[in-house]
Order: sequence, then C-alpha cells, then structure tokens
Amino acid sequence: MEKFIILGGKPLFGKVKVSGAKNSALAIMPATLLTNGKNRLTNIPHVNDIFTMKKLMEHLGSVITFDNGTLTIDNSKIHNQDAPYEHVKKMRASIYVLGPLLARYGYAKVSMPGGCAWGPRPINLHIDSMKKLGAEIDYEDGYIIAKSSKLIGTKINFEISSVGATGNALMAAVLAKGTTKIINASIEPEITLLANSLLKMGARINGIGTNILEIEGVEDLTPNNCENIDDRIEAGTLLIASAITKGEITLEYKNSDHLSILFEKLEESGCKININNDLVSIKNISDSIKPVNVSTSIYPGFPTDLQAQWIAYMSLANGTSHTTDTIYFDRFKHVPELIRLGASIELKENTAVVNGVTSLKGAKVMSTDLRASASLVLAGLATKGQTEVLRIYHLDRGYEKIEEKLTKLGAQIERVKTEEF
Ligand code: EPU
Repeated sequence: MEKFIILGGKPLFGKVKVSGAKNSALAIMPATLLTNGKNRLTNIPHVNDIFTMKKLMEHLGSVITFDNGTLTIDNSKIHNQDAPYEHVKKMRASIYVLGPLLARYGYAKVSMPGGCAWGPRPINLHIDSMKKLGAEIDYEDGYIIAKSSKLIGTKINFEISSVGATGNALMAAVLAKGTTKIINASIEPEITLLANSLLKMGARINGIGTNILEIEGVEDLTPNNCENIDDRIEAGTLLIASAITKGEITLEYKNSDHLSILFEKLEESGCKININNDLVSIKNISDSIKPVNVSTSIYPGFPTDLQAQWIAYMSLANGTSHTTDTIYFDRFKHVPELIRLGASIELKENTAVVNGVTSLKGAKVMSTDLRASASLVLAGLATKGQTEVLRIYHLDRGYEKIEEKLTKLGAQIERVKTEEF
C-alpha cells in the first residue's frame, strides 16, 4: 500500500500540463473493437483505469502497445467476447465493451459491475438500449449475456441522460441495420469525442454534440487515428488546488471551453481566470474565499466529478455554502474525512452545507474513491501541518503523475509505502 504525506500551507505557483482525459480514453479504446485492424490513439493518460481497459481488451484478443501516451490497438485477432468479473470489478467502465462486441460479433458476455464505492450505479439504460436494438439479454452467474444475429436500428429515448449508456448505444448502433435515433443523448465532451472518432472510422452519425443523435448503420468500419481531449476533471482539480492554497498557476490545457462553469464559479469565489489560447491561468484576487453554491448537473453544468474538490475548497470559505449533487445523490464519502481535517460540513440529503472555517488541521484520512481522494489531497495542501492520505490507489486510477505535478507547483507531497490500510 502507498499513502501521501502532505505538508500543507504552501501556495501553488508555476505551470503544468494537463494529461489526456481518462473517461474519453475509456470510451474510444473499446470503440476500436468495431474495426478490424490497427488503430492509434494519442494523448492517453498513463493511469490505472487505462491499464485495466488494456488488460480487458487483451483478454478479448486485442494486440496493444502503450508508449508515451500513444496506444496502438490491433483488433484483427479478437477471439473472446467475454468481459470477466476480475476486470469488471476493478472498473465499471468495462461495460463499454458490451455495445461494440455485440454489434461486431453478435455476442457479448459481460460481468455485471455491481455497486460502486459510494453506492448503487445501475446499468439498466445500457441493457434497455441493447434490447431496443434487438438484442436478446439473459443473466447467468452474475453475467449479462447479449446475443443478436443483427442489430436493427431503432428509437432510444433515455429517461436519464447517461454518458455510458449513450456511448454503448452509439457503439452498437453504428453497425446496426437501418437508422437509430438516440434522444436525450449525453452531450458530455467525452461522448462527442467518441462520436467524432466513430465518424472517422466511417460511421454515419448526425447531431454530434447535441442531445439527439441520428445514426445510419454501416456494414463495417475502418481503423482510425484519434487524438484524445485533455482531462477537464484533472484541469479542474488543479485549478481548485491553486485557489484553495491561494496560489497562482497556469495550465497547459487545450480544452478550456469544457470548463466554463467551473471558471464562473471560481471567479465568483474570488479568483481571476485568464485564458490565452491553450493556457489557463488562475490567481486569487480576493483575500478571502467567498462562499459559492454549486449544484452538479449534466454537461455543460457543474461536473459531479468536481463536487468533492469543490466541497474541500468551500471548507475554507468565508461563510456558508451549499453543494448539491443531482447526478449521484450519495457521492459524499469524502465528507466525514474532510470533517476529520477540521471542516464543518452537514449533509442534508444530497446537499452538503459547508460552514467555512478559518483553517484546517492535519490528520490521517482515507481515500474512498477517485474524486474523494482528490478532495482530501486539496484539503491537505491547504492545511497548516501534516496530512496523510491513505489508500491512494483510488487516486492512481485517474490522475497521471499527480504528486509530480503538484511538486512542480511547489507542493510538499511525498508518496511513501505503508502497512496501513
Ligand atoms: N444511470 C442509470 N442507469 C444507467 C446508467 C446511469 O440510472 O443504466 C444514472 C446514474 O446512476 C447517474 C446518471 O444516470 O445518476 C448518470 O450516470 P452516467 O451513466 O452518465 O455515468 P457513467 O457513464 O457511469 C461517467 C463517468 C463518471 C462520471 C459520470 C457522470 C466514465 C468512465 N465515467 O459515468 O466518472 O461521474 O459519467 O458524469 O466516463 C470519475 O471519473 O470519477 C467518474 C465516476
């Protein structure tokens, strides 16, 4: 096991580069299963979730190299259509292989993901959309078994906008016979990238970037080169790290249009954001952090994946603020840990009422999931004293070289081996 030891209280200064986005990479990797040949994906982060997807696809028969942010994926020798529990239990995004395997091979056996660290995360919308496309679905020994001789275009109207279900439906529909209309499709940038990547493979998709996608199925797709977008959640986490430590940092980040809502909220809280081509800078222009309410929602709303980091930031605000999560009602495992650091937070259903305190104090805290861990690191950076963040394997799922980046910005953060669990 490893933990971080953080000696906080130092403002962050300097410039770092934002890595490629984990969540879009996790969609464009399985999309290559729709092609027979060698695909090249660039700007892919070296984080554990990517290695989990790589292992899963290698199990299917993909031949993959991953070097310096570039993945080459050759799917000409796929010999398995099953995603075993050992992979899926590590990462729910493994469900992304369902659509492409079913579309290309007429069969997929995927372990059911089960709950996640902060509560239930159903997959009913994924399954319903496969059924709508004509697949026969059975459940056996914890596995979903999907079969179809040929998927048939249809109308899929999602009652909830879902990133993953849109991705799966899209990847299945591109090879279906006839036209599929996806209504209330996700317009998250990760799905827009996926759709554009499918387009480059020869798929026929209209309405990309809107919540109605129209897909005209084609017979086959060809391998493609796809450049991944930058990670908006990593960028957001680093900007909040600067704001919470009252620093002044610049990010090399090429997709600043994906974070407009965070920029607005940071400015409301007393920071100035400056965007200059692919550079985003932030500095605090107010002596104190102003309390700012946020409510998470689908894109372009405030991302649920920045909710925990925002609560850490608001813990040090000059007053009371409310942070509501409307995407995941129970994603608040970081709250008791932040309280251990001296934060004053009360949970009222899916809203954290945060009464800002003047300072936090160091303690041992425990990561419970990826973004919760990020919030603890941010709080640690702002704490005068030593904070230890345990179970940082959660953080390693989705942040590339985070301590190197923070160290470059002047933070005192060290990764050490530990027996503690
Ligand atoms: N939902 C259902 N049924 C489904 C699917 C989703 O009810 O079949 C609900 C969920 O419970 C949730 C809402 O729909 O309330 C939206 O969930 P969505 O399907 O959009 O989430 P996801 O695709 O499972 C992705 C990201 C998450 C991120 C969410 C929301 C990936 C690999 N994961 O998950 O990222 O929180 O979208 O933006 O893209 C993270 O990176 O830390 C992370 C958890």
